[in-house]
Amino acid sequence: MHIEDRTVLEALAKLDVELVRGVSLSEQTSLGIGGVTDLLRIRRHESIPDLVNLLDERGIAHKFLGGGSNLLVIDGGLPFVVLQLAQPNPDIVIEGNLAKVDAAADLGRTVTLCAKHHLGGMEGLIGVPGTVGGALRMNAGAYGTQIGSFVREVKLYRAADRRIEILKGEKISFEYRHTSFAPDDMMLAVTLALPSKPYTEILQGIRICNEKRRASQPLGQKSAGCIFKNPSGGSAGRMIDELGLKGHAVGDARVSDRHANFFVNAGHASAADMLALIGDVRERVQKHFAVNLENEVVVWNA
Ligand code: EPU
Repeated sequence: MHIEDRTVLEALAKLDVELVRGVSLSEQTSLGIGGVTDLLRIRRHESIPDLVNLLDERGIAHKFLGGGSNLLVIDGGLPFVVLQLAQPNPDIVIEGNLAKVDAAADLGRTVTLCAKHHLGGMEGLIGVPGTVGGALRMNAGAYGTQIGSFVREVKLYRAADRRIEILKGEKISFEYRHTSFAPDDMMLAVTLALPSKPYTEILQGIRICNEKRRASQPLGQKSAGCIFKNPSGGSAGRMIDELGLKGHAVGDARVSDRHANFFVNAGHASAADMLALIGDVRERVQKHFAVNLENEVVVWNA
């Protein structure tokens, strides 16, 4: 979508929002798939209520983009604009055993910076790509760790109330790859309370997790991590593997040879290829195991 509305264009500077024209989401997502639209980069959290009100009033559909690492976007001219937080400097502030982190901060960098301050607990999250905001919304997890366990409070834009709020950790429910945030809430910042640990001990944990990940996941390839959530008590990757589907492809969208729950863009996969592959694999798993796999990847198809 190309913003032409004069009222909107004139308001952006006052709101401290930068307009970036014609951004291809294939360059903003780890899958390397997605069409073109205008991107609005927000430099001040406090502008968000006015910005969203304005876009709604002027009939401009919008979606909120985090790090793009768990996202599949349709191709072509997109019927919405994309909002993204600019990264402040600094984006992480340590106070005692608290880390105050902007939602735009990189998750891996957050884990290592906290480690340097002898704050641990998040070692398992080291290889999870994306921003802290994205990790928070999905309650990202790996190797027995999930980010929700460390949340003291969250600053967010509550779409339902149209205002910025601070929510205490105990008011938020964090479950396996699911939280009580509404789909249109925007994560803005989080305070994490972390256990004290010697740096060398944290580093050792980080090394072990990195090695496990390197051995079992296709890290050098374009993917969105695991495509499906694990069904309760089961493993989506193992089921897909058992069906002999590693290497199975639609166009350039392919089930990874290394981990069957990772679908990679092996060249110039379209969103349609990837969606067809997801549908095909889901159907086969349903037929063979009578299990309906739920997407972990977020799909923007309208
Ligand atoms: N397995 C296979 N074949 C495969 C893949 C896995 O047989 O192709 C088997 C493994 O041998 C193992 C079991 O399935 O016995 C589980 O596999 P793994 O340890 O790789 O974990 P996972 O359940 O597939 C989950 C998360 C990952 C996270 C890892 C490590 C989900 C959907 N996936 O994978 O998270 O990195 O554990 O903790 O919960 C993500 O969320 O995007 C993601 C990659």
